[in-house]
Amino acid sequence: MFEFLKTAPPDKILSLSAQFNADPRPGKVDLGVGVYRSATGETPVMSAIARAEAILLSSQTTKSYLGLAGNIEFNDLLGRLVLGESAEKREVRTVQAPGGSGALRILGETLRRVAPGARIWLPDPTWANHKALLGAAGFELSEYPYFDPATGGVKFDEMVETLRTAAPRDIVLLHGCCHNPTGANLTPDQWSGLAALIGERGLFPFVDLAYQGFGYGLEQDAEGTRILARGVPEMAVAVSCSKNFGLYRERTGAAILIGDNARAADNALSQLLASARQNYSMPPDHGAACVRIVLEDEALRQEWMDELESMRLRMLTLRQGLAAALKRATNSDRFAFIAEHRGMFSRLGLSVEQVDKLRRDYAIYMVDDSRINIAGLPEDRLDAFAEAIASQS
Ligand code: LMR
Repeated sequence: MFEFLKTAPPDKILSLSAQFNADPRPGKVDLGVGVYRSATGETPVMSAIARAEAILLSSQTTKSYLGLAGNIEFNDLLGRLVLGESAEKREVRTVQAPGGSGALRILGETLRRVAPGARIWLPDPTWANHKALLGAAGFELSEYPYFDPATGGVKFDEMVETLRTAAPRDIVLLHGCCHNPTGANLTPDQWSGLAALIGERGLFPFVDLAYQGFGYGLEQDAEGTRILARGVPEMAVAVSCSKNFGLYRERTGAAILIGDNARAADNALSQLLASARQNYSMPPDHGAACVRIVLEDEALRQEWMDELESMRLRMLTLRQGLAAALKRATNSDRFAFIAEHRGMFSRLGLSVEQVDKLRRDYAIYMVDDSRINIAGLPEDRLDAFAEAIASQS
């Protein structure tokens, strides 16, 4: 039967890694997939995680099932890390999930059951896999304006204007921090404005929080999510531990629901667990068990926060260095927005042809939409890199 199938299109982000690995040129630059890299180009196991793994190895006595919600203590700790005091004050239900993607999927399916006719509104642009993943969960997709390439900022007024046209119970997907792919983020005032609009229009906020700690800081990056948690009756949050705990391949994340009251929250939780059972039964344990050990131990938690902060500051320094190098190379402020953005990504505003040419002529790999992973920038060759970018304009 398979001969009748069409080949599925390759994933635009992940297929780039294979192309990069096959490129024999020395000095090639990988700015594709969103993984943190150190100055030597490695994606290290974070030191607190390595210690937690050693503790786990010496103390674990069974690999028996934990249950559909995964590691309950991890769920509780992660809920607090994301929601702050709302974790206590609201009816929060958390389920461990296989990465942020797994969380998006089971939350998406649950929301489809709650509101079968609802559309989901995604920012324009958004993470390339949002459309595929949420479309596969059965949603009709709509877009709201988000990024303004002319200013490098958020088109907040247009965003609000568009969301005013959404129907009650429609779902609004928001990047909790470190917008992927643009790096342009909402201010706390804008989050408050959104919370008011969501309440007024009866919309349902669905936050994707994949980079907490990579933008303005661990607490600051959760502020938007917390503003919503204080101000809206119900919401969902998909959390990823891939980046901030460096657990990429361990598929560690959580799906969080906030209900208006205990009964509603429990009902929603039962649907979320049913969705987990229908998709994969139970999430993988290892990453969540390590995160639990790190967050429960004061010294390990501090070690993790310090390393995360040093990663954030390294990306900030790279942003400033690249913006300055591009100013020299172009003799203009055209790329000044790179220093203003926060998180792992910025979009350079190049055409697909220019991105192709950079790949061919300079072995510089970035996603087709000219998204670059800031952590992959060659810190000792920023001027040469900037010259290559400038040669395209
Ligand atoms: C990215 O945007 O590069 C990361 O979130 C990795 C992925 O799965 O796409």
